[in-house]
Amino acid sequence: MATDLEAPVEGPRPGADEAEVELLGVTRTFGPVTALDGVTLRAARHEVVAVVGASGSGKSTLLELVCGLQAPDAGSVRAARAVLMPQRDQLLPWLDALGNAALPLRLQGVGKAQARERAHALLREVGLAGFERAKVYELSGGMRQRVAFARTLLAGAPVLCLDEPFGALDAITRAELHGWLTEVLAREPRTVLLVTHDVEEAAVLADRVVVLSPRPGRVVAEIAVETPRPRPATADEVVAVRARALEALAAAGGEAGGAREAGGEPG
Ligand SMILES: Nc1ncnc2c1ncn2[C@@H]1O[C@H](COP(=O)(O)OP(=O)(O)OP(=O)(O)O)[C@@H](O)[C@H]1O
Ligand SMILES: [Mg+2]
Repeated sequence: MATDLEAPVEGPRPGADEAEVELLGVTRTFGPVTALDGVTLRAARHEVVAVVGASGSGKSTLLELVCGLQAPDAGSVRAARAVLMPQRDQLLPWLDALGNAALPLRLQGVGKAQARERAHALLREVGLAGFERAKVYELSGGMRQRVAFARTLLAGAPVLCLDEPFGALDAITRAELHGWLTEVLAREPRTVLLVTHDVEEAAVLADRVVVLSPRPGRVVAEIAVETPRPRPATADEVVAVRARALEALAAAGGEAGGAREAGGEPG
């Protein structure tokens, strides 16, 4: 699932932008449906890029392209080793929470005791202390999401593709995990592509917010966020970025999370 396509190092390249993810003019079609149309998007090393867009605008498709799970019909995709936290968690029902979170470490050959110890610590950090031995069916949607999130982090990839990672969480848990993710990224920086329906979440967490049009997904706006993290949702720039992203979504003919189709609505 993870391919290492990092550019070979040929001595220092002054001025190189160190893009760890680069999509150039990417188009992806499924039969008659064009999901993405000419999308160019870059993420520099350790940059957090949020992608927002209406339902069906190709966000999940974009992440799968970056992770090498799909190939573009036109254009090119280049990325360092990337791991996907899918929109629908793919936890293994026969393992408990701890076993699911520890899985990537076990697959990397880490011993069982050490893998479980690290997973245990991470599950505690995401607020799941006491649920380590719970089976997947005993966990709520938000708990499953946090187990999947821990599992994604433990995969240790330089690029994280997170597909609505906090969508099933209540507002308080979500805000807690925003703070916690910010700490984790300060401690061990990663390049992150964060797909979300929540423009406020995008403005709180990302260095740059990329807005897609409704299907077919095209980049209609890119908004930089300069305020250093952690940033409160009430910070002036967060409020302004949120408003600009919503404007761009509306101008593109979509509604945040809305189901309106891209139609031939002229002017
Ligand atoms: N495997 C597939 N086969 C056929 N069509 C697909 C496939 N995957 C995606 N599509 C279509 O491509 C378009 C984009 O889908 P995608 O899942 O990327 O959207 P999305 O932006 O992630 O939507 P949502 O916000 O609802 O998760 C949709 O019209 C979808 O029906
Ligand atoms: Mg999706």
